[in-house]
Amino acid sequence: KRLVVLVSGSGTNLQALLDAIAEHGADAYGAEIVAVGADRTGIAGLERAERAGLPTFVCRVKDYASRDEWDRALAEATAAHAPDLVVSAGFMKIVGKEFLARFGGRTVNTHPALLPSFPGAHGVRDALAYGAKVTGCTVHFVDDGVDSGPIIAQGVVDVRDEDDESALHERIKEVERRLLVEVVGRLARDGFSIEGRKVVIP
Ligand code: GRF
Repeated sequence: KRLVVLVSGSGTNLQALLDAIAEHGADAYGAEIVAVGADRTGIAGLERAERAGLPTFVCRVKDYASRDEWDRALAEATAAHAPDLVVSAGFMKIVGKEFLARFGGRTVNTHPALLPSFPGAHGVRDALAYGAKVTGCTVHFVDDGVDSGPIIAQGVVDVRDEDDESALHERIKEVERRLLVEVVGRLARDGFSIEGRKVVIP
């Protein structure tokens, strides 16, 4: 299966996928990354892609007259690589109807909280501020909402009294990377169906 991975930052989730594919081989893993896209330049995620010899593309919202035109450009840049699955790994933009028309139902996202708790761009900070005793990460299919699509898998992480946002996020990311690698591999190898809010992997 062909994967396009979308990033906005350090790209450690992307790196975990790259490492897993390098370790097992694309055939055994069931997928290869064919391109990496981003919404901004100058991020480690793009450097990781370039180091792996992958094609990259950048679609910045400010380069387009409207959000819809950005969304269309992102969809077209993604479609140019003919992905079977799109993985949003720390991609910090909400995709729109054009993108979803083409890749809805086969775009997964990873979120650093136990959805439906703490959706949005500050899931780690919000869980900490709320005083949650456990939090974690969620891998889910993207729908037209914010972090609201059918859940595929979740991992639990204890919140410690001494945690600040970055310490907690780093601990979450250790679980998140493993969860994402496992889920993407299973979806690619075994296929899946989505029945309402239920994801079925045979
Ligand atoms: C991940 O925890 C992701 O869930 C969140 O931001 C982080 C991105 O990390 N949205 P990286 O860019 O994969 O290192």
